[in-house]
Amino acid sequence: MKRLNSQLQQDGAPLELILLIRTILAGCKEISFRVSQGALAGVLGSTLSENVQGETQKKLDVISNQILKDTLRESGYVKAISSEEEDTVVPCNPDGNYLVSFDPLDGSSNTEINSLIGTIFSITHAPQWMKPDDPSAFLQPGTQMVAAGYVLYGPSTMLAMTTGRGTHLYTLDKTHGGFLVTDSNIKVPEDTAEFAINASNQRHWEEPIQQYVKDLIAGSEGPREKDYNMRWVAAMVGDIHRVLCRGGIFAYPFDKRNPKMPGKLRLLYEANPMAFLMEQAGGLADTGQGRIMEVMPEEIHQRVPTLLGSKNEVLACLSYYK
Ligand code: F6P
Ligand code: MN
Repeated sequence: MKRLNSQLQQDGAPLELILLIRTILAGCKEISFRVSQGALAGVLGSTLSENVQGETQKKLDVISNQILKDTLRESGYVKAISSEEEDTVVPCNPDGNYLVSFDPLDGSSNTEINSLIGTIFSITHAPQWMKPDDPSAFLQPGTQMVAAGYVLYGPSTMLAMTTGRGTHLYTLDKTHGGFLVTDSNIKVPEDTAEFAINASNQRHWEEPIQQYVKDLIAGSEGPREKDYNMRWVAAMVGDIHRVLCRGGIFAYPFDKRNPKMPGKLRLLYEANPMAFLMEQAGGLADTGQGRIMEVMPEEIHQRVPTLLGSKNEVLACLSYYK
């Protein structure tokens, strides 16, 4: 089986980017190990603090963030990082050529039930003019990403990654400690009969998504004329992984509850990297108003509505927004 380095070289990734990716993955391997120790190492449960977004931090959120922060700062490749668990950007090497945004442990409430969790990351170039503590350099649209991916800590530890030459799936081979390509150039099926949405928020949704989901649930008796199935892992990494592997549509739509929270998922380290992976696998990623990767961020923790997945199903959903 092909190793990570060979795949990245084949895809034309420059050496420094390969080394940076390997640094991130070294951190993820440590997270994978810490996560797998669970209750034995006393790493489950919450801390007494909240992150800048008002979410109670799990112990594993803090541990995972620290691991990635330390490895990236030591590496020298990175000028600054932004993380779900950091209020503002963390300056690293002033001569670093890259910026990394990450969600160190997505779906961390799943740690309590030994269910799917993962790390999501995206990488862009660091502008020359940028000072390491300047958040404005992170405010680039997703089209500027040079690489993005996630590591899923499931029954096996898997990596989905793209450098803009297709999306590949890798599996961590714990016997030698490296990621091996287990599925290259994956293609998300264009059609699907599976959707993922937190239906308990239904009363807060806007009209287009209300009508779309109503028609899915109406099944073969409704206008879509087929029966749909629903799945919800409650960790974006888990839901997106399923959609990448066998198709589907994943939606966390605009929500009328709080105008400051137009959707739940964060653009820089959740929506954008998943959008890049999805598009590189032939799927679509939209906010309902346009392509996710073209949204111009206004702040590093900005949230966006998300509709991602099988091409024809996302198009069907978008037709309700017209
Ligand atoms: O990071 C936010 C997140 O945990 C995602 O991973 C997941 O898709 C979503 O929130 C789950 O939301 P809810 O709590 O509404 O099920
Ligand atoms: Mn998350």
